[in-house]
Amino acid sequence: MKITMIGTGYVGLVTGTCLAEVGNDVLCLDVDARKIDMLESGLVPIHEPGLEPMIRRSVAAGRLRFTTDPDAAVAHANVQFIAVGTPPDDDGGADMQYVLQAARNIGRRMTHWTLVVDKSTVPVGTADRVRETIAEELAARGVDVPYTVASNPEFLKEGAAIEDFMKPDRVVIGADDERAIALLRAIYAPFQRNRERLLVMDVRSAELTKYAANAMLATRISFMNELANLAEKLGADIEHVRQGIGADPRIGWHFLYPGVGYGGSCFPKDVKALRHSADRAGAPLRVLGAVEAANDAQKRVLVDKIVARFGRDLSGRRFALWGLAFKPNTDDMREAPSRVVIAMLAELGATIVAYDPVAIDEARRVLGDTAHLAFAANPIDACDGADALVVVTEWKEFRSPDFDEMKRRMKRPLIFDGRNLYEPDIVRGAGFEHVSIGRR
Ligand SMILES: NC(=O)c1ccc[n+]([C@@H]2O[C@H](COP(=O)([O-])OP(=O)(O)OC[C@H]3O[C@@H](n4cnc5c(N)ncnc54)[C@H](O)[C@@H]3O)[C@@H](O)[C@H]2O)c1
Repeated sequence: MKITMIGTGYVGLVTGTCLAEVGNDVLCLDVDARKIDMLESGLVPIHEPGLEPMIRRSVAAGRLRFTTDPDAAVAHANVQFIAVGTPPDDDGGADMQYVLQAARNIGRRMTHWTLVVDKSTVPVGTADRVRETIAEELAARGVDVPYTVASNPEFLKEGAAIEDFMKPDRVVIGADDERAIALLRAIYAPFQRNRERLLVMDVRSAELTKYAANAMLATRISFMNELANLAEKLGADIEHVRQGIGADPRIGWHFLYPGVGYGGSCFPKDVKALRHSADRAGAPLRVLGAVEAANDAQKRVLVDKIVARFGRDLSGRRFALWGLAFKPNTDDMREAPSRVVIAMLAELGATIVAYDPVAIDEARRVLGDTAHLAFAANPIDACDGADALVVVTEWKEFRSPDFDEMKRRMKRPLIFDGRNLYEPDIVRGAGFEHVSIGRR
């Protein structure tokens, strides 16, 4: 099948690559010429485990190509996926300009029946706006070309994106047109060979499902974060509480880990956008206001603990910081808690020496040069002369460090463990003072 992917970012590139992997002929379009140049010269602009060899394979087989040319992209296929960014607007709503620009590009060029699939996370009603935008362009051309707009939100997780796309829990299709449903069913057939995972529904429900999923997950995180703070005050251990509630199948084990707040390109903006839609619809989601406020406070919690220990003047203090990316297995720094921690520590006069297995280049790009921040080539070097270690992202390689060597390198043996990565008994047994999120 010939497929066009509009937008070659985390979602578009992974989706396009996975669709090519199963034999489709995929053309990925982007307006970012630098990104397309990189891909054409064999480089991959993002860190995503397993992605690079897959791209190489499909490019070599001629099934996966990249372009900045919208004419070529529209001419390539009668299935056009829109996977462009939907960042927050000034008022918290989703900024639809990229999605509508993609729709306009299609409307200006299409010559035969086309299925336009909204894969970006978009507010309810967007498929209607995409449909109207295409209609305007067709009217301006004075032509009448049939087309259908469907919704197919994406649920992949950065860091496990390939696995998620190749073996999805579910594929949500929002469409009311049999031809569109049949085509999407055929596109997704290779990814659900052992059981049916397609959930076909109306377009508006599909659009809302994506926001509902992210808002629910963000809610669990904020709930656990606030509960951890409470456990600390009450002398309880959040880890025991987590186990005690996770064992209840109605609650389950996922997303119950307290930490330094959620970040990334999705939860923060999607919670905001859903709140915004709900307010405008006159059915406010009050709970999400609390989720956001709790998260903002949680991003500051480690620095509050550092201030409680050292006071507000941190000039002359040096902190090792492990983990820059908003979560492990990605180099994505969008809304990463590390950014808040670094900015606050720098503001209080501290120097930070940071290490991350893959996100240092991206951190340099988004944080720029500052006298307060340096990067280390490995975790242990970051510890040299540090007043404390601050753990912000739970990369696997941080789980069992050489505590003796750390102690030798650090000015004092102190860990602010923002992800509860270490068992208090073990780390204290190794001679460290351990400050955690809600552990005893
Ligand atoms: N990143 C995730 O984990 C994830 C998961 C599920 C859903 N989503 C959603 O998917 C969408 C894309 O997210 P992302 O993280 O891949 O974003 P991204 O910023 O990594 O990629 C978007 C790409 O679209 C390109 N673009 C913008 N306008 C364009 C146009 N008119 N034509 C062609 N290309 C254009 C940009 O240059 C960019 O490369 C968002 O709505 C996001 O909420 C993201």
